[in-house]
Amino acid sequence: MTTMPNNTDEIRQVVQERYGQRALRVIQLTDVTPAANAGCGAENCGHGACGGDDCGHDAAACGCGAATNAAACCGPEDTERAMALYNAAQLQGLPVEAMAASAGCGNPTALADLRPGETVLDLGSGGGIDCFIAAEQVGESGRVFGLDMTPEMLALANANRDRMGLANVEFVAGHLEDIPLPDSSVDVVISNCVICLSPDKDAVFQEAYRVLTPGGRLHVSDMLALSEDGPRLTDAEAWASCIGGAEYRGTYLARMAAAGFTDIATSDEALRLDADDLPLNVASVKVSARKPA
Ligand SMILES: C[S@@+](CC[C@H](N)C(=O)[O-])C[C@H]1O[C@@H](n2cnc3c(N)ncnc32)[C@H](O)[C@@H]1O
Repeated sequence: MTTMPNNTDEIRQVVQERYGQRALRVIQLTDVTPAANAGCGAENCGHGACGGDDCGHDAAACGCGAATNAAACCGPEDTERAMALYNAAQLQGLPVEAMAASAGCGNPTALADLRPGETVLDLGSGGGIDCFIAAEQVGESGRVFGLDMTPEMLALANANRDRMGLANVEFVAGHLEDIPLPDSSVDVVISNCVICLSPDKDAVFQEAYRVLTPGGRLHVSDMLALSEDGPRLTDAEAWASCIGGAEYRGTYLARMAAAGFTDIATSDEALRLDADDLPLNVASVKVSARKPA
């Protein structure tokens, strides 16, 4: 077992390595040459053999069925997560590369009540799945920023955005603890299984509060510890897996209140990431809050 990371740089390095590898794996699973695609039928589906231009947005081209079924044909173990967390309407039209990269523990846009014209920021946007769902909801008059520190994830997210032809989504390189956006520039902050990865959650909540407009909303799905003694595993691997950095619910909510958030409410995510999370003393929780008007 690896030892627990003990400073910000070490944690960032471990987390970045984990998600950089994940992004590369998705790219590898879904990237096919035209020659490989020629053999992309029932035999090869389910083994990551299909994807990319000819399968990712038109699964029928490789015999894999309609768009949402494409998930089942390109890295099933990855896309199963997206299929479990989101509903079919949300996934409709998403490239399989966005679904395969999904690494969240909830569905933060489901209750965010996003409205046309709003500006949304996704903290730790990964392959971009929640940004693309949000973009659909805020429409062409709205705007979505996805913030991430891992170059490979940003490259994957940008490629996914370009595949979808979305002009209202922008991926930004940076850290949650130092958000490269102006004060009061965002109507809604969302995040999916990321704040638990931060070694400085106070800074994350202070920054989220700073960039929100007065009256702005926060809707976060995250892993939290169920009791004060924290998660059962805290080594580097567990940290990168969204377990080691999961904080006790009371501590987490107190940090939000200290940053200035009001109307803080929590509810359990309907779908658990993993049936084993309770023995680890962590669970996926949805947290909502508001910056006072
Ligand atoms: C568990 S994945 C979740 C990705 C995405 N939200 C989803 O639901 O698929 C965590 C993502 O957050 C990013 N991340 C983790 N800590 C970060 C930090 N402190 N600043 C910026 N990005 C961070 C990682 O690079 C990774 O892409």
